[in-house]
Amino acid sequence: MLTVRAPATSANLGSGFDVFGVALSRPADIIRVSKADETTIEVTGTGSQYIPEDPEKNTVGAVVEALDAPAHIEIDKGIRPASGLGSSAASAAAAAVALDELYDRGHTREELVPIAAEGEAVVSGDAHADNVAPSILGGFTVATDEGITGVDTAIPLVACLPEIVVSTRDARRVVPEEVTMEEQVETVGKAATLTVGMCRGDPELVGQGMDDSVVTPARAALIDGYEAVRREAFAAGATGVTVSGAGPAVLAACRAGERRAVGSAMLDAFAERDIEARVYRARVGRGATIH
Ligand code: HSE
Repeated sequence: MLTVRAPATSANLGSGFDVFGVALSRPADIIRVSKADETTIEVTGTGSQYIPEDPEKNTVGAVVEALDAPAHIEIDKGIRPASGLGSSAASAAAAAVALDELYDRGHTREELVPIAAEGEAVVSGDAHADNVAPSILGGFTVATDEGITGVDTAIPLVACLPEIVVSTRDARRVVPEEVTMEEQVETVGKAATLTVGMCRGDPELVGQGMDDSVVTPARAALIDGYEAVRREAFAAGATGVTVSGAGPAVLAACRAGERRAVGSAMLDAFAERDIEARVYRARVGRGATIH
């Protein structure tokens, strides 16, 4: 029996749509695997009632296939599905790391990223690596067709998850198909600023670079209360605020020591609209760990 913890992640970070991602120090999924002749899956934890246990339909089934690693797999969900916090990616990432170790397949962490991405495609329909990469590797990651690069950092973050459902399909449908040259120039500037901020561990630069006028406004419209939550987070000291992944979670960057105030302000802003929410005070953290 082998246990792996894989962290939640936040993709896009505003200016890095489908490219940037960070591992969050919390929450996380825990997976336990043991060798078996046939694969069986058991799911417990938050939102487990919505997750199929049939290996053909579960995110870890494709990982089992890719690694030729049949197992009994227990998934303890700490990350709510459809949260914008990389829930299916974390399970796929944990399975890839766990099964590779259990069967001694010898892949590097980088090699496990596309394998886990295939697993995530089973539920999301698309093999994006922007969530599985940070869940496996940790830190801030940049996922492109050429591969993955990234940097370890510990920027303080707050993720606020409202009890709202946003379909990923809708969240992708509202993404504009074209950008103007002016928007392109602005987005490159923001993405570069964010990257420098991550490399320097500078929450001000990271926050500035999270600003985005292309994808985020369209998606924010799907999250009731987003504008108020954003405004109050800034008023409480956030350096940047954006939609986490496809939403509905909202991600804020801030300076160390300001997470509590920022988190409370975000919760209060949702509460004003009678929307229940929970807050994760986190930082950019490490990738999947074997226990
Ligand atoms: N980059 C993806 C999106 C992450 O925002 O749609 C969710 O799979």
